[in-house]
Amino acid sequence: MSGALFDVVVVGGGAAGLMCAIRAGQRGRRVLVLDHAEKVGKKILISGGGRCNFTNLEARPEAYLSANPHFCKSALARYTQHDFIALVDRHRIAWHEKTLGQLFCDGSARQIVAMLLAECAAVGVDVRVGHRITAIEKANRFSLRTDKGDFRASAVVLATGGLSIPKMGATGFAHDTARRFGLAVTETRPALVPLTLPNAPDLSGVSLDVVARCGRTTFREAMLFTHRGLSGPAILQISSYWREGRELSIDLLPDLDASAFLKDRKRSRPKAELRTVLAEVVPQRLAQHLAAEGTMAERRDKDLDALARRLKDWRVTPAGTEGYAKAEVTLGGVDTAELSSRTMEAKKVSGLHVIGEAVDVTGWLGGYNFQWAWSSGWVAGDAI
Ligand code: FDA
Repeated sequence: MSGALFDVVVVGGGAAGLMCAIRAGQRGRRVLVLDHAEKVGKKILISGGGRCNFTNLEARPEAYLSANPHFCKSALARYTQHDFIALVDRHRIAWHEKTLGQLFCDGSARQIVAMLLAECAAVGVDVRVGHRITAIEKANRFSLRTDKGDFRASAVVLATGGLSIPKMGATGFAHDTARRFGLAVTETRPALVPLTLPNAPDLSGVSLDVVARCGRTTFREAMLFTHRGLSGPAILQISSYWREGRELSIDLLPDLDASAFLKDRKRSRPKAELRTVLAEVVPQRLAQHLAAEGTMAERRDKDLDALARRLKDWRVTPAGTEGYAKAEVTLGGVDTAELSSRTMEAKKVSGLHVIGEAVDVTGWLGGYNFQWAWSSGWVAGDAI
């Protein structure tokens, strides 16, 4: 195969691919980014409600799921959230911490894409969109065939992300290509995804602060009832740990000794409706759903204890997830055992790198996934 010659072809111009291209370009490499979409960084643009939660002050290896929890350490240590914040600051993009260390643009996610493209342009990275890659082969060099011409390169970086939001053009390209080169791919599943309930209560739109627990993992954040089940940050977080058939335990009153509260109200407001009392501490519609009619005085202490237990430890067994259509990320991906954690290069295929969400490293909700994209992209770009 002939075609224009580059040092590096990065397939996928998302968060990880652009960062990798920038770092390789800074080191004098001739870099081509190929993307099949009509523009790069589409997920960055829609992220964080259009404001891009671009990193998290608390980013650390423990916030990532992977078959090998140690794999992400090297990249996260070499290109940290503070390195990315410094880049954002150099581009004078104003930002704020929303909650739990989550950093968002004050203005728009478009600023992050513009920053990445400006950095690419500054080091001569060639970014081409609307290219469908039909073949990647390796002899001495890599050859890439596309619907708009062929390219050759000493290194190829797979940066096409995960399977979530197929409507936006997500593909299994990185996984499929990795497999074709003999690399193992771990089981993939939707993560950071709403969960469905077998008999979802009619509470759609009700939201409250909870502690969601699956096994030994807990998250304290908001939970939202939906038409089909449960969503909100607490549920999205716990969804990455949940598996079919498993039960979740949800504390609907994390700051309260529910039993003491109910018995206290029975003494101090015996004529009050139980529902009214409950509505002091949970949204009214939920209070109505949880308690039958009747006053506090009519309740035996042991019934109040039982209700308190239900409030502190509401057990649900989700039917499933809302799938890739609603998932923020993909759990699983190219097996980390196949890659060098320092360079993201495949151990079996020299010159082939895999970065970002395509790898079996998945962060919590809150800017952690972009930080993995920046860190893994940067270390690959630093090595190629
Ligand atoms: P990414 O998906 O960014 O980029 C992949 C690129 O490859 C795309 O440009 C795509 O067009 C291209 N591509 C795909 N298939 C191809 C093919 N076959 N050929 C050529 N090109 C191909 N994370 C976070 O940290 N903070 C947040 O606020 C959010 N918010 C958020 C909202 C929503 C709605 C979603 C779906 C996801 C998030 N995320 C997030 C997750 C975050 O977007 C995600 O983890 C990163 O974008 C992953 O970066 P990558 O570069 O690996 O893939």
